[in-house]
This record gives sequence, C-alpha cells and structure tokens, in this order.
Amino acid sequence: MRIGVFDSGIGGVNVLSSLIKKYPNNEYIYFGDTLNLPYGNKEKKELLKLACNAIDFLLSKHVDIIIIACGTISSNCYDDLKNKYDIKIYDIISPTLNYLKECEFKNIGVIGTTKTIESNIFKISNKNILMKQTPSFVPIIENNEIDDKQDDIINELKDFKNFDALVLGCTHYPLLKNLIQKNINVKTIDMGDILANSINISNNSTKSCELYFSKIDKNLLDNIKKILNTNYIIK
Ligand code: DGL
Repeated sequence: MRIGVFDSGIGGVNVLSSLIKKYPNNEYIYFGDTLNLPYGNKEKKELLKLACNAIDFLLSKHVDIIIIACGTISSNCYDDLKNKYDIKIYDIISPTLNYLKECEFKNIGVIGTTKTIESNIFKISNKNILMKQTPSFVPIIENNEIDDKQDDIINELKDFKNFDALVLGCTHYPLLKNLIQKNINVKTIDMGDILANSINISNNSTKSCELYFSKIDKNLLDNIKKILNTNYIIK
C-alpha cells in the first residue's frame, strides 16, 4: 500500500516511525511543510489551505490513504478534509481520544500547540484533564535545542508531576520523551504509537520510504537521523 503522511515538519516523522515499526512492508511518502512551520498558532483558513496543499501533493504521488500526522490540522480541519476528499484520511487525535476514554488513568495532562488546546478536542467528560499550550517546544525541537533549553522545558511541565499520564498532543513532542521521563514522574502517551496500533494496514512486499520537505536544513537532517533508523530517500 502507498501511505501518505504529512505534518508541518519533523513531528510527523515520529508518526511515520511508529507506522513503519508496525507495518514495515509498505511504501511511505512523507511531506513535511517546513517552509510554513509552525502550524500551531495559525488560523483555520490558513491551516486548511496548507493541509490541502499537502494532501494534493501526496495525491500526485498516488497514495492509497492519507494520515494527518499533525495534531493542529487534526483538531481544526479533519471534518473539512474528510468531506472534501474521496480518499481515506486518518487523523492523529481520534485514536488517542478513544484510548483515553477507555483507559484507567484519572488525572491526565495534555500538552499541545495553541490551536490544538484552544479547540478543546481533548475535553473528556469522565476524566480530570489539565491542558496546557506549549508552543515554544516546536521551534526548540526543530532547531535541535532540546539540550540547551532543557531547564525551560522541565519548568513548563512541572504542573504534570505525579499525574497518571501526559498526552503528547503535538506530534513533535515525542522527541522530548526521554527528557520528560527522566525529570517528571509521568507516563507519556504517544499519539503515533496509538494510531499505529489502532489502524489496520495490509503489509505488501514493497518496502520504501520517501521524504519530501518544503525546506531542508542541517537540523532537519539531524533530527530525521535521530528518529528513523531505516533506509529512506530525502527529496
Ligand atoms: N506537529 C504538529 C502538531 O502536532 C504541528 C506543530 C507546529 O507546526 O506548530 O500540532
């Protein structure tokens, strides 16, 4: 199967990596819109335009399904995109919401971009949910500054100490997992892993992974190496 995946930048590569681990024998086409990041504080009209550009690009690569590997687009534009396109589109947040409704955790933290948190998509009636916008994390991650800025990151997350779980509600954030686990006593929830476990993709015999970005720099290339240990082509 040809699987199209997109995000504003490196975040969706975390999702791609979860999918490849679970379904290695497929053709993956990734688009990261690095020229237009961050998406997290953009208005819906702009987000829709950028998402349509990404989807049209993936369609030109003849993908069979599309995965929105971006919390911001998923929380603000999923219904519009589903109605506009005939192709099967999966969003990154719904599987995590289903998981949260069923899980045993009571006190759950959610961190995400401004527009994801403002959408209130993570409000779940039978749980105690604390949501926080953490927009500074995306540029820190994209610019490869996690080590330099670790005190600031930990400080922003201190409210979640001893929570049952912390949802990484932006797909960039799994790159902070090690730091969070070392410094905050909380289990992290990775939306990419939950998505990969919740969808059913047939494995076929062809194996490939092509990544396209609207802008490429050294930080991006270094980050891709940190996440993907498989063979891939960057264009
Ligand atoms: N990784 C995306 C998300 O999950 C976008 C982050 C951004 O570009 O601000 O929301």
